[in-house]
Amino acid sequence: MNGKHIGVAVAALVLATLSASVAAGEPTGKSKGNVARGKYIVEQVAMCTDCHSPRNERGEFIRERWLHGAPLDFKNTVPMPKWAEAAPPLAGLPGWSEKELVTLLTTGKDQKGEQPDPPMPPYRMTRDDAGAVAAYLKSLPPPSGK
Ligand code: HEC
Repeated sequence: MNGKHIGVAVAALVLATLSASVAAGEPTGKSKGNVARGKYIVEQVAMCTDCHSPRNERGEFIRERWLHGAPLDFKNTVPMPKWAEAAPPLAGLPGWSEKELVTLLTTGKDQKGEQPDPPMPPYRMTRDDAGAVAAYLKSLPPPSGK
């Protein structure tokens, strides 16, 4: 085999492994790239931080408590039957497996098969995006005592 053929064989193997893990419903990899993509989705696209990170009295994020959960600092302006008062910690995924979080972010259903109360958005991410988010959140140190 020459170098080009080996490269093709390796690429095929990588693809086969990737699609096998997608089919099994597992988050696809805990590689650095996936964590970086998860960070991007959490901080820049889905804005999980907006609700799940506490702020100080000047409204600035408290970086040491990044994604440690927070009381909601806004309310709905029309009556809603349900409205959560706080968003739970996400750093280190306390109480959640990566797989459970992927299910929540792809189907909107939590471990009990229920939808979290608003304003938690009912995300319908792709499995890859949800896996990246799970890998990033898992990589963060959990709040102490959890
Ligand atoms: C607009 C505010 C908001 C945003 C944005 C948001 N959340 Fe939430 N999240 C909440 C609230 C409020 C709750 C608590 C809901 C409840 O008590 O039922 C919650 C609950 C959760 C829970 C626990 C669900 C359960 O059933 O116990 C997880 C996990 C979670 N959020 C993950 C995320 C992730 C990951 C993102 C970003 C991809 C995100 N959230 C973005 C507000 C938000």
